[in-house]
Amino acid sequence: MDLFRRKSVTDLQAEAASDQGLRRVLGPANLIMLGIGAIIGTGIFVLTGTVAALNAGPAVVLSFVLAGVASIFAALCYAEFAALVPIAGSAYTYGYATLGELFAWIIGWDLVLEYGLAATTVAIGWSGYVVSFLKDVGITVPPAFSAAAGSTVTLADGSTITAIFNLPAVIIVALVTCLLVVGIKESANVNNVIVFIKVAVVLLFIALAAHAINPANWHPFIPPNTGQRESFGFTGVVAGAGVVFFAYIGFDAVSTAAQEAKNPQRDMPMGIIGSLLICTVLYIIVSAIATGVVPYAELNVPDPIAKVADRAGLGWVSSLIKLGAVAGLSSVILVQLMGQARVFYSMSKDGLLPPIVNKIHPKFHTPYITQIVIGIAVAIPAGFLTVREASSLVSIGTLLAFAIVSAGVFVLRVREPNLHRPFKTPFVWFVSVMGVLSSVYLMYYLPQRTWIRLFVWLAIGMVVYFGYGIRNSKLAKQPPR
Ligand code: ALA
Repeated sequence: MDLFRRKSVTDLQAEAASDQGLRRVLGPANLIMLGIGAIIGTGIFVLTGTVAALNAGPAVVLSFVLAGVASIFAALCYAEFAALVPIAGSAYTYGYATLGELFAWIIGWDLVLEYGLAATTVAIGWSGYVVSFLKDVGITVPPAFSAAAGSTVTLADGSTITAIFNLPAVIIVALVTCLLVVGIKESANVNNVIVFIKVAVVLLFIALAAHAINPANWHPFIPPNTGQRESFGFTGVVAGAGVVFFAYIGFDAVSTAAQEAKNPQRDMPMGIIGSLLICTVLYIIVSAIATGVVPYAELNVPDPIAKVADRAGLGWVSSLIKLGAVAGLSSVILVQLMGQARVFYSMSKDGLLPPIVNKIHPKFHTPYITQIVIGIAVAIPAGFLTVREASSLVSIGTLLAFAIVSAGVFVLRVREPNLHRPFKTPFVWFVSVMGVLSSVYLMYYLPQRTWIRLFVWLAIGMVVYFGYGIRNSKLAKQPPR
């Protein structure tokens, strides 16, 4: 039994060319929009404030720069792979081509933590913003049905109740799932409209709030460390980078649309790198304005960007920002759920998951059964968990995938130097090594309990692989060449 059997890049390219299941309808602009749709979300709308207040002060800007640099190393590696092997499995498929089946399975299983749990996390964040926005327009959602099951909610009169479950979080997952079943083109169109709204809101914020900056708020730029590693000082800035890293997650989801891209060799790198660069610039500007307008210590609120707009005297913009966040978070959920289904689609085509997973709807051309099962699996924890619980695993899962993809690019360059690569990672010796090191560095700063949960999840994955995948692998059944 060969656990490290690999798929050849040539076979994968032939597979990508012959698979007619998914429709090739996405151009470069759609792909960049898909990336921005997946990236801008909870990170900038919520985490900017908490990181400024608790970890980095005004140097949250540096945290964004550090996390952005780590992401760009990984993005350059993803771009090489996505153009070379344009298959919906993304990191899972790249792992199959470089490190072998067992690693591919581990990555595929790990990606559930990224895409599935990120969708859960953002759905919970969406619920918070939508409840707050509805309150602004006079509609009250009963608190018992808008928070994590079992959590204690304090009412306006000071009394407390125990929440039953988070209904809005479940509803948004259900709505987005329906859209994804109906079609990729339809989903991409809705995504484009949403991305337009959320980028417009961010640009409006930048244009209108900048005048209210008081440079005194940027001093001290890096507040002195308080004695705890993650509280300010340089280590606080790095710890903050680990947290705001969440804000960059999503550019890699573009690569799961490779089989739906019209010209993946050219457009995948544009979609991945283009979307990431645009968001990096926006994040740096927004975080600088936020800490310039409101003293950092006051930013630990659920809607910091709306608070900054308020302080800058832009009353109506504050409600608009909430609306932009509500729209923006929906597109993050959309792209993550889509990415999750595409990865499962590829795993099932390889025989590592049952064939029902890649059943394509005859009319809509989408992997509808998987999409619905994923929708249910994401909606249940969205109704029962808090953002903190759900998000703790997302970053570690993503960083692991980034480290493996960066290593994979390096391995393939050594093993098959002569492959025609439509996009080559520049300075690959440096960029891929830095991709691995920066991901591992940020992982190191994550709490121990997150590591334990990661190992438990991977152990469950091993049981599934040895119970099913290893016996049904299509690669294992191919005659040796
Ligand atoms: N980057 C996405 C967000 O910030 C996951 O919500």
